[in-house]
Amino acid sequence: MVRSGNEDGGSRAKLFELLFEAKGSIVPSSHITERLSLTRQAVFKLICALKDEGVPIESIPQKGYKMGGLDGVQAVSPTMLDFFLRDNPVFNKCIYVKEIDSTQKIIKKLAAQDAPEGIVAFSEMQTDGRGRRGRNWKGTPDKNLTFSVLLRPNLMPCEVQLLNLASGLAVKETLIKECGIPAELKWPNDVLCRGKKLCGILSEAAGEADKVYYAVTGIGVNLNMEKDDFPEDIRDIATSVFIESGAKAPRWKVLVRLLDIFASYLKLLEAKNGAESMLKIYRTGCDTIGKHVKVIQDDDTFTGEAVRITQQGALVVLTPSGEMTFAAADVFHLREA
Ligand code: BTN
Repeated sequence: MVRSGNEDGGSRAKLFELLFEAKGSIVPSSHITERLSLTRQAVFKLICALKDEGVPIESIPQKGYKMGGLDGVQAVSPTMLDFFLRDNPVFNKCIYVKEIDSTQKIIKKLAAQDAPEGIVAFSEMQTDGRGRRGRNWKGTPDKNLTFSVLLRPNLMPCEVQLLNLASGLAVKETLIKECGIPAELKWPNDVLCRGKKLCGILSEAAGEADKVYYAVTGIGVNLNMEKDDFPEDIRDIATSVFIESGAKAPRWKVLVRLLDIFASYLKLLEAKNGAESMLKIYRTGCDTIGKHVKVIQDDDTFTGEAVRITQQGALVVLTPSGEMTFAAADVFHLREA
């Protein structure tokens, strides 16, 4: 099922706005019916639809409706997403899907149909979530952030790694600011907490030798999973914001903040000397630099000290046989070098 907050000819969105702007006061039913030009029964249906999405609305008999505070809401409501992303300069079109094989697939399909940049496909549950190097990405329904975005960057194919770096940086910053946990960024874009994986990012691109047609960046953040929710084989290497902070995160709010920060990095990348400015921030925020690392590329394994990030976002490692540059690889932090 695909739902978006723009169903009902926009009435659901208008009703949300009306209740939100009342800041917790009761909005009389007569005021709503008048403003939306709808019958009481039609308004009641919209109220039920918003409640179904997880929006906290209270019906006050004989008076009207009022909206509760949104900070504690863990649901990802499509109407709330549309509302809070309305000023996002990149990500202001959201598709909400309860269950899908993989959000990467929806976005790739839309990209092939010439859809514009900035569409976000969010799903509560993926039945065939894809990870890097053909691995699976599993999650528990209604607890995480699982989404993909369509990008049409003005970059050369050899610069696509910059999108990976920008997305990882955005996730790290969001989790620190919004959830207060000590998130770490492992090159190129894994986000960890106390060495365990919190978030995985998969970027796939299509283009020619000198042009990127589109890129799809898929992000999976373990937000409210409990220890037992993780499959046993990854329980010791994966974690969630809830496990690390002891608090359930408002998923919609984390998603909105993440998309705001990601958009600001994408805008930075478009600016003059923007790649260099973004890399400057990335080099400071990347916890891989200065660490002793194990790097796995295809069937080969290398160890050494991660020393720097190149202009194209590659990782340079000082190995016993000299410096090696990795454009893409799996990296494991071993210890401080
Ligand atoms: C990794 O291997 O670390 C990358 C995992 C990426 C998972 C996300 S979840 C949303 C999007 N849809 C997918 O099928 N994969 C990505």
